[in-house]
Amino acid sequence: MLEVSNLEVVYNDVVLVLRGLSIEVPDGEIVALLGANGAGKTTTIRAITGLLGVHEGDITKGEISWQGERIDEDDPSSIVRSGITQVMEGRRVFAEMTVEENLRTGAYTRKGAAKSVYDRVYDMFPALAERRKDTAGYLSGGEQQMLAIGRALMADPKLLILDEPSLGLAPKLVQQIKQIIVDINETGVSVLLIEQNANMALSIASFGYIMETGKVVMDGNSGKLLNDEDVQEFYLGLHGTGERKSFRDVKHYKRRKRWLS
Ligand SMILES: Nc1ncnc2c1ncn2[C@@H]1O[C@H](COP(=O)(O)OP(=O)(O)OP(=O)(O)O)[C@@H](O)[C@H]1O
Ligand SMILES: [Mg+2]
Repeated sequence: MLEVSNLEVVYNDVVLVLRGLSIEVPDGEIVALLGANGAGKTTTIRAITGLLGVHEGDITKGEISWQGERIDEDDPSSIVRSGITQVMEGRRVFAEMTVEENLRTGAYTRKGAAKSVYDRVYDMFPALAERRKDTAGYLSGGEQQMLAIGRALMADPKLLILDEPSLGLAPKLVQQIKQIIVDINETGVSVLLIEQNANMALSIASFGYIMETGKVVMDGNSGKLLNDEDVQEFYLGLHGTGERKSFRDVKHYKRRKRWLS
């Protein structure tokens, strides 16, 4: 289980971005972390994965523990070795490298991944298997996202953290990514799913957190959140009339109106 408690994070010694964030990811579950632009979702992941330092960020309060041990002082590679990997925002792949080379970089914490590890990833993503010698930069957006996820799996994680995996993908691909996340979870990997697509995330998560300006403002079982009027209005784009609002409108509206204080 991952436990983040009362976390405070500051950038450049001054900008307070997380203000007492507490979340949990029990073993074997998919947990959704939702929130508008700038809420602090990516910062939360940086804190968990030990990457805050790279961004001039610091944990100033609170703690993070994983399988009962504090990890908030650990370096990124030992956190990966302990079983936590992430798929970064913006599906970053090494554009100049081949698919296979990209996968190899995901196994950097292990001394040479066995063929079976590649096979498992290729089984899950047949499209990548076909293109293993191709340059990653020429893959489609959906294939690059699959490669980014495949690379994270090369480290054999027990907890996979995904930062907005559906962003910018066509609906059909979003469905594919969603199914892949479910498949990964069924192999026993816990998932922390960061999304702006609340509908997608809550449809597969067992529990969800909604964060705003650095802390959790609402949490609950996915079913409860999906049926909540505020959540529907602000995150699922559904208004009382049943009319859909674009995410952009919802985001703008959200900036003006803080619906929970
Ligand atoms: N390196 C940094 N230095 C200073 N401020 C930062 C830094 N990185 C992020 N921030 C600020 O911290 C806040 C939270 O950013 P973060 O990227 O964690 O939000 P997010 O919820 O992931 O947003 P998005 O949905 O846009 O990805 C924002 O106001 C952002 O401008
Ligand atoms: Mg982000």
